[in-house]
Amino acid sequence: SSSDLKDILEFTTALARRAGALILEGSEAINSASLSNVEEKKNSVDLVTEYDIRVEKLVQSELKAKYPTFQFIGEESYSAGKRDPLTDEPTFCVDPIDGTTNFVHGFPFACISLGLIYERKPVLGVIYNPFLGHLYTGVKGQGSYLTRGSAAPRKLPLSSDPKPLPSLNQAVIGVEWGSDRCETTISAKATSFARLAGDPEKGVAGGRMAHSLRSMGSAALNYAMVAQGGLDMYWEIGCWPWDVCAGVVVAEEAGGIVTGSHEVFEATKNTDQFGVVTEEILTGRKYLVVRGIGSTPEES
Ligand code: IPD
Repeated sequence: SSSDLKDILEFTTALARRAGALILEGSEAINSASLSNVEEKKNSVDLVTEYDIRVEKLVQSELKAKYPTFQFIGEESYSAGKRDPLTDEPTFCVDPIDGTTNFVHGFPFACISLGLIYERKPVLGVIYNPFLGHLYTGVKGQGSYLTRGSAAPRKLPLSSDPKPLPSLNQAVIGVEWGSDRCETTISAKATSFARLAGDPEKGVAGGRMAHSLRSMGSAALNYAMVAQGGLDMYWEIGCWPWDVCAGVVVAEEAGGIVTGSHEVFEATKNTDQFGVVTEEILTGRKYLVVRGIGSTPEES
């Protein structure tokens, strides 16, 4: 119920702030070179640190203690082989550090992305970037908010009168390189980037080009930035449920249009199938698109 969600939001927001403190501690450890242990997962650009694992353990154990009947899906538990079936039951879906590459390099755009799925649909999202002190929250049917530092929460989008975008040529668009650099994925992405930002005379976009493209290095923060109004759109291929769960709620509750991300949940009966869905995304059959508030790009 909505009052349950309110309580869960309060608990998960406090937990995300605790996780954020641990992420900052990890960042200090990297700066002081006491953390040199950066492991590679599926390839040399897919990174994990001991802090990804520590943050996930903290969050998982606190959630388990407070909500013992809820299921849990986490990026690092999944990588370690824990792949319980996704059911209709309430399920937390967590990326302990979304933007691990930024975290490792000291680029201050990384966050914890904590979502709740119910009946296989995302219903609550908490995204916290401890480097900037930006907290984004969203609850299905209850709007989404940005809290910066100790300031009062502000309802998203920040502009109460968003101007509709007539076409792509006034848009700033979030795109990501991701960690899958296989030929199929990288050429699909490069083609899209060129279409979005290319020369209007020669561009496939038919004489329009976006103002610019941005890579924030965190899927969740892209969704949040669309919700905020700083990006008009976010386009990516190849996300996982923990990358998108919280962001979907935050963006949609701000009036954004999300395409593709829901399929990650809806088409999925058990977590093994996440791989299948992701594979479809990677081969270009499914795309994650968040279109900004009021924007009507003619090509996407
Ligand atoms: C990744 C980041 C990246 C996006 C990838 C994600 P991680 O998550 O969000 O920006 O391009 O699709 O998997 O590995 O930093 O948790």
